[in-house]
Amino acid sequence: MSMAAKNLNVTDKDGHPSSADIPDQFPTRITALLGIRWPLLLGGMMWLSDAQLVAAMVRAGGMGFISARSSASNDMFRQELQICRELTGGLPFGVNLTLSRRMQHNDIILERLRIALEEGVRIFETAGLPPTPLLPALRAFNTVVIHKCAHVRHSIAAQNLGVDAVTLVGMEEGGHPGSNQLPTFVNGAYALEQLHIPLALGGGIGHGRQIAAALALGADAVVMGSIFTLAQETPAHQAYKQRVAATDQYGTRTVLGSLGDTWRVIDNDNARKVAAMEHAGAKTYTEFGELISGARTKKLAYDNGDYEEGMLSMGPAVGFAQSVEPVACIVNRLQKQLVQASNRFQFLNNS
Ligand SMILES: Cc1cc2nc3c(=O)[nH]c(=O)nc-3n(C[C@H](O)[C@H](O)[C@H](O)COP(=O)(O)O)c2cc1C
Repeated sequence: MSMAAKNLNVTDKDGHPSSADIPDQFPTRITALLGIRWPLLLGGMMWLSDAQLVAAMVRAGGMGFISARSSASNDMFRQELQICRELTGGLPFGVNLTLSRRMQHNDIILERLRIALEEGVRIFETAGLPPTPLLPALRAFNTVVIHKCAHVRHSIAAQNLGVDAVTLVGMEEGGHPGSNQLPTFVNGAYALEQLHIPLALGGGIGHGRQIAAALALGADAVVMGSIFTLAQETPAHQAYKQRVAATDQYGTRTVLGSLGDTWRVIDNDNARKVAAMEHAGAKTYTEFGELISGARTKKLAYDNGDYEEGMLSMGPAVGFAQSVEPVACIVNRLQKQLVQASNRFQFLNNS
């Protein structure tokens, strides 16, 4: 890993380096693997990671992943990829392939993978289950595969399957951190004892200090989601974004642990109803019915702005997301904070 921070003399009013002091790139094994400038990944986000959001992340120097299952039809997915290609001006971007324990959702993933390959996408984030059923097609096209998981043992298993890199998330992750109970940095330190392929760390990261810490730990990148949910480019209602802005680091909770499918979400009315049903003994997806339906979340919360409805994936990094602003501003702030925090290690280089 290269700690590319410059010697900083100029700071802005918050004590962060000015833009002029941010290096052009921060090379790691993952920036080399993906052909990007900064080791900053925006993980796929169901219903939210569309062409605009992903392209903004790519243009800012990182990598984003269009969520394969979010488009209403195969044609719309293909169109999303074409729009993204146009918006990035040809820079590569990624697609997220999330396999579900609710198996009926998985046929569509194979179909969307086929379309992505046809459209020239060669970078994939796999998640949810081991990527085994996807690997023949992914290998046939020489793609870069980053597999995301939440248990150290699953990251080693993915390495053994031959993926190019792994993302390991901690229990702080917004979305599905699974049954893992360990925080991001504990997971990371254990995994790095056994991994030889590049590692991205995720879960709870929304400040450049944490990125510097992850890189210092030995990770090659970080994966974020929650901090970008209120980006200007994120396709969601303003009322939802205001709710995100008003939510602090204590405003999320986990539910569905009883199904072995832990889901970290904003602690809204809907999540409290799900938790109450769980407490009362509900044990199957069917029993939770519409309360955990993704389509309902999209319609009521993301499209209509009724943020007390739906399962709103979110982790405590939301506390760092305080106002609606373009992705480029969020990334620029993270870069400044990262450089500032990395500077603390300069004495090591000078001695
Ligand atoms: C709104 C939202 C939706 C998400 N949907 C998915 C998804 O469909 N597939 C997936 O692999 N990860 C999903 N994630 C997880 C992110 O890709 C990323 O791993 C995570 O947000 C990192 O943790 P953080 O939220 O603490 O930054 C989602 C996260 C959020 C916040």
